[in-house]
Amino acid sequence: MSLIRSSLWCALTLVVVAISPAHAQSPEAPFDQAKALAELRKSIEGKEDQQAVDVFMNVKQYKGVTAERLLRIMEFGFSRSLGVTCTHCHVPGEWESDDKGAKETARAMSAMVSAINNDYLKNITTLNSANPSVNCTTCHRGQKRPALELPTPPPAAH
Ligand code: HEC
Ligand code: HEC
Repeated sequence: MSLIRSSLWCALTLVVVAISPAHAQSPEAPFDQAKALAELRKSIEGKEDQQAVDVFMNVKQYKGVTAERLLRIMEFGFSRSLGVTCTHCHVPGEWESDDKGAKETARAMSAMVSAINNDYLKNITTLNSANPSVNCTTCHRGQKRPALELPTPPPAAH
């Protein structure tokens, strides 16, 4: 009887150890942007050409673009031009959340870009360009803070 009881106890202990969250506290794996994009593409399979506003949950600005185009804007237009990964503006997996301030900043920046393109550049009649425009890269050039000065030139070679 006591043998059965102690082996039961032993089995119970094993179960508790197996489901304890200790191993979940190991340091988080670094964010894998290619994997995140692949998972998102899989989750919108068949809906790539539908409007982003209908496919995703919290699209307020890029309503007129397709779902696939929105992902490309995220990858190249936003992440690459600022030199960041998705995590600068998003909690991975909670893409619709507006918790990170940088996401709201990005919305305001994209409104600013539209204003520059539509309200200012289009009205400079003396420009010899059919479609003058700026985008995120124009200012950011791979950095979070656009430069105010050119880098110091290297000392002249003798
Ligand atoms: C500079 C900030 C920024 C970066 C970097 C960024 N995003 Fe976004 N993301 C936004 C903003 C802003 C929106 C909302 C756009 C709108 O309102 O039209 C958004 C929306 C989204 C959405 C739609 C979510 C929903 O359900 O509404 C997805 C999916 C998404 N981003 C994925 C990504 C991925 C993947 C990356 C990295 C490759 C990334 N984003 C990088 C700012 C960013
Ligand atoms: C006309 C120049 C200009 C353009 C174009 C521009 N930005 Fe910015 N952006 C700035 C400036 C200036 C700051 C503020 C830098 C600082 O902190 O002093 C900034 C800051 C930001 C930040 C905050 C960075 C941080 O530290 O977290 C985000 C996010 C951002 N921009 C996103 C964008 C996105 C997305 C686009 C394209 C839709 C864009 N910007 C286009 C000038 C620009």
